[in-house]
Amino acid sequence: MCGIVGYIGSKQAYQIVVKGLKRLEYRGYDSAGIALYDGNNLNITKTKGKVADLEAAVFKDDNTHGSIGIGHTRWATHGVPNDVNSHPHYSNSGDLAIIHNGIIENYEALKQELKNRGYVFKSDTDTEVLVNLIEDVQLNEKVSLSKAVQIALNQAIGAYAIAVFDVKNPSELVVARLGSPLAIGVGEGEYFVASDASPFIEYTANAVYLEDGEMATINLSKDIEILKIKDGAIVDPYIQELKINLEQIEKGGFDHFMLKEIYEQPNAINDTFRGRLLPEENIIRMEGVDSNIKKFMAAKRILIIACGTSWHAGLVAEYIFEEFARVPVEVDYASEFRYRNPIINKDDIVIAISQSGETADTMAAIKMAKDKGAFVFGVCNVVGSSISRETHAGAYTHAGPEIGVASTKAFTTQITVLALIALRLAKEKGSIDREQYHYHLYEMEQIPKKVQEALGENDNIKKVAEIYKDAEDFLYLGRGFNFPVALEGALKLKEISYIHAEGYPAAEMKHGPIALIDEKMPTVVIATKKGHYEKVLSNIQEVKSRKGKIIAIINKGDTVVRELADHVIEVPETREAFTPLLTTIPLQLLSYHIAVMLNKNVDQPRNLAKSVTVE
Ligand code: M6R
Repeated sequence: MCGIVGYIGSKQAYQIVVKGLKRLEYRGYDSAGIALYDGNNLNITKTKGKVADLEAAVFKDDNTHGSIGIGHTRWATHGVPNDVNSHPHYSNSGDLAIIHNGIIENYEALKQELKNRGYVFKSDTDTEVLVNLIEDVQLNEKVSLSKAVQIALNQAIGAYAIAVFDVKNPSELVVARLGSPLAIGVGEGEYFVASDASPFIEYTANAVYLEDGEMATINLSKDIEILKIKDGAIVDPYIQELKINLEQIEKGGFDHFMLKEIYEQPNAINDTFRGRLLPEENIIRMEGVDSNIKKFMAAKRILIIACGTSWHAGLVAEYIFEEFARVPVEVDYASEFRYRNPIINKDDIVIAISQSGETADTMAAIKMAKDKGAFVFGVCNVVGSSISRETHAGAYTHAGPEIGVASTKAFTTQITVLALIALRLAKEKGSIDREQYHYHLYEMEQIPKKVQEALGENDNIKKVAEIYKDAEDFLYLGRGFNFPVALEGALKLKEISYIHAEGYPAAEMKHGPIALIDEKMPTVVIATKKGHYEKVLSNIQEVKSRKGKIIAIINKGDTVVRELADHVIEVPETREAFTPLLTTIPLQLLSYHIAVMLNKNVDQPRNLAKSVTVE
């Protein structure tokens, strides 16, 4: 995790780096720091807290000068969040400054060797070890910074995206990546480096994404030079044009990114459909699937791997694939899959789902599946992300940047992509009849409009939130396609309001969670008409007869559940398989409003980070 930003050029680096760090705070926000070289001094300011705290500290000391600078916003791995452990770190001579996102696993051994050679360490971090290792190589082997970085990284085991400079040569910045993302913005006589392109989007649309195992030397008087860390082989830089704009990464009048992203869902789902869902022609067109259709057709089983919310999308997909494409599906947490010895047959297809495309466990699970000979298909949101490049083929969700740590539009667009794939496959296999296929395509096209309608319940949801904001526990129940939605609703509430919540398949309630129910405990039940409606009614009765409070997600005009429930939130009707795309919306809004009412930091909940690049 952690966000890194760097600038080298003729402008003052401070504003660019700090603004960039604010955009990357979703990656970690327990401490922040910046290093600037003003031509005479290397000024490093670091502080526990957010980038706003860093700004205050920098101004206090007037350390804002220099046209080369690097900054960091941290999610602690080695060493508690405090000023000393914050990045940037500098070498014993005081000449080298470094920022690092990742973990150097063998840092203890390296540290001991360096200590034996007289190096001293101020922090508990692995990064301070790395910068001193680079310095040690540079001094002993009398090599350039770039060469020293290459040699040092070959001794390091772990994951990293780093940027390092030497005050003795302030027109050069060296960067490298392995397992953590790193983008280089190429401007006119200036360069930017960052964990993603958002910090430099207003300065340049040209970017180079380093591949795993590559490093780059950015020198103001030369062309950018990229090479393989392992053997120094030269790589031609591939400069690509960025498609995101500034508006997409700003709040656009909403109080929080999460709320903005919830409201973006109708458009986001439309973007997911664009060029793919063609009901008039009665087809679904998806390049990644079409060009691998034989593999999909031959698949005896689909294995889905993901984490968190993406895993919930995978569970929804299990129901959808089995319903339409009649292919068995297994869904696994990537973190479990990678440490089991899973059985993967040559006719299996592995689908990896990840919003960020950088999740370490998902990445490792993909590599393992590939090693075992599987064909791996990625469903990612971030274009050019590590997972999208590591997989054999894939489909982007095209949800646009998701900044709020609590995933919202990523979830619904993931389900959308997976439903498209399932229907595409079903048609090819003939496992859905022509008429049903046709109806589903037309109904899918209506989803963005229906999501918009579901958003219309916002004021009602706010009132419900006001009533239950002080509850200590919540239970979420759903059946069939909506069981994973119950899990997702509970996760949303937990992660941003810190209220304990559990999601359960409604019928499982009587096997344990029913013991929790009393007059104080709210139960959120997804009780839409399609899919075990009568059974869910019985589950509601079971809660009511134990004096539990019911918040029911119902279809418009349902008077039966309205009678039984304490509160109802309406969503439009749709085909059963698509109901998760609608029932999720009120659960996102409910958790959002509760968290806001409890004064929690909705976009940056404690202990979390948007992109989990450590295991
Ligand atoms: O970027 P990914 O989709 O791979 O991320 C997976 C999880 O870390 C993520 O969904 C997490 O659970 C979210 N905070 C949930 O809102």
